[in-house]
Amino acid sequence: MNLILLGPPGAGKGTQAKRLEGKHGIAQISTGDMLRAEVASGSEIGRQAKSIMESGALVPDALITEMLGKRIEAPDCANGFILDGFPRTLAQAKALDRMLAGKGRGLDRVIELKVDDAALVARIAGRFTCANCGAGYHDSFKRPKVEGVCDECGGTEFSRRADDRAETVTARLEAYHRQTAPLLPYYEAEGRLVSVDGMAGMDEVTRQIEAALAR
Ligand code: AP5
Repeated sequence: MNLILLGPPGAGKGTQAKRLEGKHGIAQISTGDMLRAEVASGSEIGRQAKSIMESGALVPDALITEMLGKRIEAPDCANGFILDGFPRTLAQAKALDRMLAGKGRGLDRVIELKVDDAALVARIAGRFTCANCGAGYHDSFKRPKVEGVCDECGGTEFSRRADDRAETVTARLEAYHRQTAPLLPYYEAEGRLVSVDGMAGMDEVTRQIEAALAR
């Protein structure tokens, strides 16, 4: 099963992709996580991407498409994948179609998480992750069961993303509406788009996605 999760920053793509990965045994591919790993390693890609990401803009299509093309060749994608943060432009969507057609594969569903812009800033500003295992938390919506201790791995160090500042979030939202939202009619015209209510609680969003996949 090959899926795309589409939605603005903070819509819950990463949260839901992790759940789908666990339940369906398909790989979560977050291009944002891949880029952050490149930045952390100090690679050439990371050097090119760092300031662009911190400004809230999108990195160039050619760079991200090449990275994604290599990633979907990995053995853990043999059963399928969930794309979380890709494609983000029409050029990326068309490149993905070509890549999949070349492998005789297709997309099963494109799932849109619909969330009001006003809710997104609060979600993003409150987000933090375990520095050891990457498990995600939120100051208001999802705190660790034991304060200061990761539920998943017991880690006690947490971090916040460099691009989660309020002014950068506004730029990321603008980039979404200008460059990524036009993908919705593109996938709708192909009959692959399903929209779910991303304003609902996390478990309800998961339920709606599973119902869409079962149809
Ligand atoms: P990326 O890492 O993809 O960030 P994003 O799309 O801005 O999305 P986020 O990770 O911020 O949010 P999310 O939707 O995953 O929400 P989450 O589940 O964490 O991209 C970062 C940057 O990399 C881009 O700006 C760009 O520069 C570059 N980039 C990446 N891919 C690219 C591409 N293809 N092309 C070009 N450039 C690219 O949830 C958010 C918070 O809300 C969490 O705290 C969570 O606990 C909480 N939450 C989740 N669901 C709910 C719910 N239902 N109710 C209440 N709270 C919830």
